Amino acid sequence: MTAGIPLFIRHASQLVTLASGSQQPVTGRQMSELSIIEDGAVWVEDGLIQAVGTDSELARRYHERLGEAEILDASGKIVTPGLVDPHTHLVYAGSREIEFEMRLNGKTYMEIMRAGGGIHSTTRATRAASEKELIQQATTRLDSLLKHGVTTVEAKSGYGLTLESELKQLRAAHKLNEKHPVDIVSTFMGAHAIPEEYKTNPDDFVQIIVSEMIPEVARSGLASFNDVFCEKGVFTPEQAKKILRAGLSYGLLPKIHADEIEPYQGAELAAELKAVSADHLLRASDSGIQQMAASGVVAVLLPGTAFFLMTEPANGRKMIEAGCPVALATDCNPGSSPTVSMPLMMNLACLTMGMSLSEVLTASTINAAHALKMADRIGSIEPEKQADLVMFDAPNYAFLQYHYGVNLVNTVVKNGRIVIKKGVAMYDVSLSAS
Ligand code: NIG
Ligand code: FE
Repeated sequence: MTAGIPLFIRHASQLVTLASGSQQPVTGRQMSELSIIEDGAVWVEDGLIQAVGTDSELARRYHERLGEAEILDASGKIVTPGLVDPHTHLVYAGSREIEFEMRLNGKTYMEIMRAGGGIHSTTRATRAASEKELIQQATTRLDSLLKHGVTTVEAKSGYGLTLESELKQLRAAHKLNEKHPVDIVSTFMGAHAIPEEYKTNPDDFVQIIVSEMIPEVARSGLASFNDVFCEKGVFTPEQAKKILRAGLSYGLLPKIHADEIEPYQGAELAAELKAVSADHLLRASDSGIQQMAASGVVAVLLPGTAFFLMTEPANGRKMIEAGCPVALATDCNPGSSPTVSMPLMMNLACLTMGMSLSEVLTASTINAAHALKMADRIGSIEPEKQADLVMFDAPNYAFLQYHYGVNLVNTVVKNGRIVIKKGVAMYDVSLSAS
């Protein structure tokens, strides 16, 4: 679409709007209410959604301007909001397929990390890579995320673990955001691992994060959120609290990798700090889940991680019933979830976390937008929101999770512009990689 020309999406078999009529994250039974319009249409102009309704309503309303619009025929297909992936480790160097093989042969994720592999291995590769190399490698992943329907993605640092290399990762994300159609929201995660050089004095590293890294990252303006891997053998709840509080005092909003491998009071800490989200939660306690629901913390669940680590997933059903707003994410990273497919995460959430076909859509759009504090702009198809939309080769939303492991994305509209058409990139891919 050329700038200035309206885009008229017509005849969607189901226009899945996710309009909830509320500014709050969606909870409980409302997570299954998708606000579907059959034979739906959207009028897009100036990068924004201007009008949403049935095809005949909008055709009537815009009949004098039909001739000037580019038409996107969505007959036989569903249209959803652009998917939002609120938890990734997008920017890193290298890969760790050797560790996958080790895990298949019985080694655990934490054993590999304790032996200097895991996050440490990616940290070595990321420290050694130039900013340009990081951008190039992240571009490939971002292109694939977009091809799978993602229009906004969160990206964490955390493979630098020194001020300089954390900033290098954040700068890479920032530059990529400027060039690439997908919007990137950055999270500082200097507390992703205790670097090997601080193995014997982890509190010194915590102090460096608090007094050196956080102030400098905040000054750089390169991150919106602050995240900690609160896990036995990594950062204790006390250390995590100190780091998240320090971030807050500099305007970095708290997120937390909570109760991923073992129960560790992560959900409770997220509730206490009123974190924007608590992520993973595979081993969260019942009381922690209740406390999160009471504090309005978004539970960001990562079904790909449990699947890939071959472990019992988070209990999404229980969290929804407890009143937590649940979101889904890929956790795209080189160790525990090397995937770029949000649709696959939705399928896994249905099959392994007790979530319904409709709940997973809420979790991947409007609630994921809430996990990034962006729900005023994205996550649903409503007038005045960004025109971020996906058209899937699926006649109804159930088909999306049913025909699994296949990329059903046909067309992606980002800020009113068609960026993927019949599965093919319409933007200059070389631009974002250079
Ligand atoms: O979310 N748990 C910590 N961080 C990532 C994994 C990072 C890695 O293994 O490189 C996660 O699972
Ligand atoms: Fe993660």
